[in-house]
Amino acid sequence: MNDRLKILKNIAILISGTGSNMEAIINDTLSNDHPGIVKFVLSNRSDALGLLKAKELGIKTFVFPVNRTNSLENFEKKLLKLLTNKKIDLLCLAGFMKVLSKKFLVNFKGNVLNIHPSILPSLKGLNTHKRILKKKSITHGATVHKVIPELDSGKILGQTTIKIRKGDTPDKLAKKLIKKEHYLYIKVIRNIMTGKNKIIQID
Ligand code: GRF
Repeated sequence: MNDRLKILKNIAILISGTGSNMEAIINDTLSNDHPGIVKFVLSNRSDALGLLKAKELGIKTFVFPVNRTNSLENFEKKLLKLLTNKKIDLLCLAGFMKVLSKKFLVNFKGNVLNIHPSILPSLKGLNTHKRILKKKSITHGATVHKVIPELDSGKILGQTTIKIRKGDTPDKLAKKLIKKEHYLYIKVIRNIMTGKNKIIQID
């Protein structure tokens, strides 16, 4: 084992879909100066596109389905085992569409982060691109925050903004924002892994 591997902190990523934030995080950890390493990617959906991308990047993947026969409680139990076995320090939610329970969050001793497509505390929950257009706001954005049991409510670690232009649709906003999400998420991860407390603002 070389020196770099000995001191690296371990990251795990949860996804439910495309996994573009996941891909950005993995790619960033592949650079030599990164303080972390992605140990595995887990999805609650076997059809999540991000699983293929993670495999292509050489990352171990797992699928623990959550459906009528497999409860979220069971998912969390198996996840907790995996996090303990792989000595995970940081769990990153990246388009993960389930709400983790208080019990899980109390039991997991590492940090849990999420990226949400709005300037929190405004617009918690789903369909943020559609809702921001309805509000006739001129600015939209994304937030990386710590995960606590209350949805989209944990400590804000970084935010990025985009301007809303005439003719923007929810799809156009999502496309514009996602690139900035990637940049924000990887910056916040580097910050938290190196013990820096500064809130990141990217305009
Ligand atoms: C992103 O917009 C993220 O903010 C939200 O879900 C989307 C996931 O996209 N939580 P991707 O799967 O990372 O491409």
